[in-house]
Parts: sequence; C-alpha cells; structure tokens
Amino acid sequence: MKTLKIAIQKSGRLNEKSVELLKNCGLNFENYKSSLISPVSNFPLEILFLRDDDIPEYVQDGIADMGIVGENVIQETEVQVSYLQKLGFGRCSLKIAIPNTEHYTSLSDLNGKSIATTYPVKLGKFLRSHGIESEIRTISGSVEISPGLGLADAICDLVSTGGTLKSNGLRPYADVMSSEAVLIGRKGSENEELIKELIQRVQSVLRAKETKYVVLNAPKDNLEAITNLLPGVKSPSVVPLAEEGWVAVHTVIPERDFWDRISQLKQAGAQGIVVMPIEKIIL
Ligand code: PRP
Ligand code: ZN
Repeated sequence: MKTLKIAIQKSGRLNEKSVELLKNCGLNFENYKSSLISPVSNFPLEILFLRDDDIPEYVQDGIADMGIVGENVIQETEVQVSYLQKLGFGRCSLKIAIPNTEHYTSLSDLNGKSIATTYPVKLGKFLRSHGIESEIRTISGSVEISPGLGLADAICDLVSTGGTLKSNGLRPYADVMSSEAVLIGRKGSENEELIKELIQRVQSVLRAKETKYVVLNAPKDNLEAITNLLPGVKSPSVVPLAEEGWVAVHTVIPERDFWDRISQLKQAGAQGIVVMPIEKIIL
C-alpha cells in the first residue's frame, strides 16, 4: 500500500487547527516545528508542513494526495483539485482596505489608484466585475505596510480579527470574498480507499463538534412530549430509573439550536439535564 500524504500549513493561521483536527482523527504524529515531514505511526500517512500558498499546486501535481488550505488560496492559484470537505475553521475574508485618513465614498473612488496584494487573480476579477480600473501591485508579503511606505494607495489582503489592519492605520473598505479552511484532494489519486477512510474520520470529528450528548431525567408520563423534542442519531435511549415512574433519556442534540431545545425540554418536565461533549460520531 502506498503511503498517503497530506499537506498542511507549516505556520500561520491554519497550522494549529489543522494539527488539532488530524490529532482528533486519532492520528499519532510529532509536530516538530523544524521538520517538514512527519510520519503518522498508526495510519499509512505522512504529514507535509508547507507554506499554505504552495499547497494547492502540490496537491494538483501529486506531491501530496490531500491538503488543508484556505478556499481563497485555491481560487487564487486556479488549480484543478477536488474540494472534499469544508472544515469550519480559519474563517476570514479577502478585503480591500484603505488608510484611515482616506474618505472614499464609493468603489469607483478606487479608479486610477494602486492596490498592493498577494492575491492579484481574485482582486483582478473583482475589480473587472465592478468596472473599476486600478493598478494591481503584486507583492509577496507584508502587504499591510505598503500604503505607509507610499508603495500603494490601498491593499487587498486577508482579514480575520482585523488586528493587522488596525495596527497599520488601515480600515476595511470592500469585501472581495469570504473563505474558510477546506480539505482538498488530488483528482484521480491512486490512494482512493485511504482518502475515503480519512474523509470519514474527519467528518466524524466535525459531526461530533456540532453535537452534544445529553442525559436527562423525565417523568414517564411526559416521555412522549420529551422524545418528540429529541430526534437523536436514530432515536433516544430510554432507561428506567430506580424511582418508580421516572426514566433517564440519553440522546444527542445539535449545537446550533441547543439552548432552545434545553428550555423546551425543561418546560416538558425534564430534570437533571447533563450535557457532555462528544469525541466522534460514526454513522
Ligand atoms: C493573513 C494576512 C494578515 C493576517 C490578518 O496572513 O496576510 O497578515 O492573516 O489577520 P488578522 O485580521 O487576524 O490580523 P496568513 O495567516 O494567511 O499568513 P501568510 O500571509 O503568511 O500566508
Ligand atoms: Zn498565506
């Protein structure tokens, strides 16, 4: 069997969460900051630590079978890779930002201005679609300092907390795209079975994150009203309590409507509600 390779960001916004996700998938590996490749001891997989901007091309060209990278980087490099799964972390947006001292009122104020960026493809498409003609200055990093240095009138860069813009006297002006981390794969990889297995593991971790395990006590008479509020994975488990007329109900509840559900359950007579995190859900 060929060893599968997955590329993740070596350092930066996505590194920590990518490592955490792979560890939660039950993969054992060392996360040495100095090494570029880490073998996984309990799965035929190697982890490559790379610059995020290079990951889509490495996956396309077969140097890695899979990768974790921001959607924005994939669209920028215009590579042919398969989107396997959105990962729900690394959310950010690509924005045009201008110095705090400027008072532009509409997008057309960017006509004839220069914009520094490491994302010329996305920016170019955005400007064309709005009929704006600006000069795009492609640079390789530290974009946020270019207006201060007089290199450009504006910038187009990723914004997550907004801290980088703020500390450089810039403010967001227009949204170009929003992005999050995604799992990508090489089209036509010969390691299809292993890739499938890894995708399943990733999905079971993501599913678990969106769900809580709930145990509650209920009077038998209210059981129907309570179970109607609880779809569970299949249907809730109901266990008799030592006290006559009472049962314990075990189930899972989606994180998104969690508090609404809990107050409905209380109204329906549920007591002693215990909520626990879930590690994995395998369907
Ligand atoms: C992006 C961007 C900014 C920073 C913005 O860098 O270039 O430097 O994140 O984040 P903030 O709004 O939270 O301050 P990225 O992590 O993509 O690293 P890279 O530029 O080295 O690829
Ligand atoms: Zn980057």
